[in-house]
Amino acid sequence: MSVTQIPLPFLYTVNHLGPDHRRRALAEDVRTGLTSTPKWLPPKWFYDATGSELFSRITTLPEYYPTRRELAILRENAAEIAALSGADTLVELGSGTSDKTVLLLDALAGAGTLKTYSPVDVDAATLEAAARRVAAAHPGLAVWAVCADFERHLSRLPRTGRRLVAFLGGTIGNLDDEARASFLSELHDTLSPGDGLLLGADLVKDTGRLVAAYDDNAGVTAAFNRNVLTVMNRELGADFTPQAFEHVALYDARRHRIEMRLRATRPMRVNFRELGLTVAFRAGEEMRTEISVKFYRYRLERELLRCGFAVSRWYTDPAQDFAVVLAFVPEGRHAEEVQAPRGHRRNGRS
Ligand code: SAH
Ligand code: TRP
Repeated sequence: MSVTQIPLPFLYTVNHLGPDHRRRALAEDVRTGLTSTPKWLPPKWFYDATGSELFSRITTLPEYYPTRRELAILRENAAEIAALSGADTLVELGSGTSDKTVLLLDALAGAGTLKTYSPVDVDAATLEAAARRVAAAHPGLAVWAVCADFERHLSRLPRTGRRLVAFLGGTIGNLDDEARASFLSELHDTLSPGDGLLLGADLVKDTGRLVAAYDDNAGVTAAFNRNVLTVMNRELGADFTPQAFEHVALYDARRHRIEMRLRATRPMRVNFRELGLTVAFRAGEEMRTEISVKFYRYRLERELLRCGFAVSRWYTDPAQDFAVVLAFVPEGRHAEEVQAPRGHRRNGRS
């Protein structure tokens, strides 16, 4: 781990993911995912500098409604969120360019409580640029940027003060049911009574609109999807031919989730020089690169409750495309009331 003070008065960065850690973690995921049937990869590897740049372009696409909806919800409700949370520390998981955060920072500053902003992201370059921008725009704010994996390093987040953890962009949907439950429980366990969670989640809707959001006309999402192949080429000495893979986005209505895949257009053998590994693809074989779960209100609220959170507000846009949920770790006696009864937990499969 390295801590660096960047020459702005209040900007610090902590990196839990040095180049070695990154490469080892990617190697492990490749060995697991690409030797499974069907093949799959965890989505965090999309996000190198190019991937983050492509994601920024996705957020402005006409088909990709979530960013605009979430921004509108935050614009409308940031003041209330700030007042309810009373937070002095805003922690943001998967913060990316921190574009939406400005609304929350301004609202918390307006409420007079804000002291620290702590963005957390796997992509060091995007994280640092965003932290720098925020620090420069908010003199007096302490910015503590943490380059880390929110599935592994939640215990290393700032532990002092009253915290509000923002997890926006529907990124929660990129975790499958099991990973989401572990993530929410772990997050709950690192927080203290009174700390809040502000969660952005995409909602179930018309399949055509869902699929279009992950398969845009301009092909930006396709480029984003293929970028994971370039990342493996660079970091693990692999020899993928990205153009030989087709972008596939489909909606699994039973599991209410988008799946993104890369389909091999011909038989291929891919060598990973650094791993001494060769992976064979059949023509038409698909590798899953991303899921994006879509939610119903009752299910998401139930998940939060089961992981120990008390839901305080459910904000949505007029079209009910997207939701921002404000939940708290309960204080005092209320803490016991939110624990779901055992029977409920056991029978509560959805
Ligand atoms: N919050 C922003 C960005 C969403 S894109 C928005 O709402 O627009 C998802 C972000 O999460 C990317 O910046 C990506 O680098 C980061 N990310 C993905 N998986 C991660 C992980 N496991 N740990 C930390 N950051 C992660
Ligand atoms: N959290 C975003 C989502 O699920 C991430 C995302 C948007 C994404 N478009 C994508 C991930 C395309 C992979 C590919 O909506």
